[in-house]
Amino acid sequence: MSSATERRSLLKAVYEQARDCRRCALHQSRTTVVFGSGNANAELMFIGEAPGANEDRMGLPFVGQAGKLLDKLLAEIGLNRQDVFIANTLKCRPPDNRDPHPNEIEACQDYLRRQVELIEPSVICSLGNFATKLLRADSTGISRLHGREELRLIGSRAVRLYPLYHPAAALYTPTTLETLRADFRRIPELLARGTPVQPEPLKEIPEAELEDSEPEEPPTIALEPLPQLGLF
Ligand code: URA
Repeated sequence: MSSATERRSLLKAVYEQARDCRRCALHQSRTTVVFGSGNANAELMFIGEAPGANEDRMGLPFVGQAGKLLDKLLAEIGLNRQDVFIANTLKCRPPDNRDPHPNEIEACQDYLRRQVELIEPSVICSLGNFATKLLRADSTGISRLHGREELRLIGSRAVRLYPLYHPAAALYTPTTLETLRADFRRIPELLARGTPVQPEPLKEIPEAELEDSEPEEPPTIALEPLPQLGLF
């Protein structure tokens, strides 16, 4: 675990790398890289889809109508943006707000993994299909998964993943809004469960030992149930 200052400066280093990113074609049309914003020590992260026009202009996530709804839902459970960290699956705006392409998600996912590993949240709310599918490495859609928490590994971090409808989907559909609101109300309970048990960090084996050692038989029994690996 890093100290708060160390964590912020490590996160800033990832931001500085992302700011000049050219890993996919979206760099040609973006105005700003929307890295994410909020509390680098947050226990709770939200992961959306991709910046829209307002976010692209301002360089901040969720500053439009969907963001206003997100703020309102947060306030209803006694939280605000300073309590959480908000990021997106893609850091750059897809032209005309089209869906992210698989190659863009692939090119961008390392930034998200590093954000999660540095912030070390206990709970991650994936907002909508794109973030949920990426973080679960599975194509099951949000209407089947919303409101069901599960333990997942994101990079080296074990988190309580809690898929939610995307606030943009709730803007004009009252029944989706009520479902999202009801799912939101369970966030404090998930946070109260605390940090999930973390996997043992991988030990570095000195090169000399590697050369001498006999190849090991693969273990036949898993000692603990392993949370399923995410895409990272
Ligand atoms: N929708 C998202 O998924 N992310 C944003 O930042 C804004 C709208």
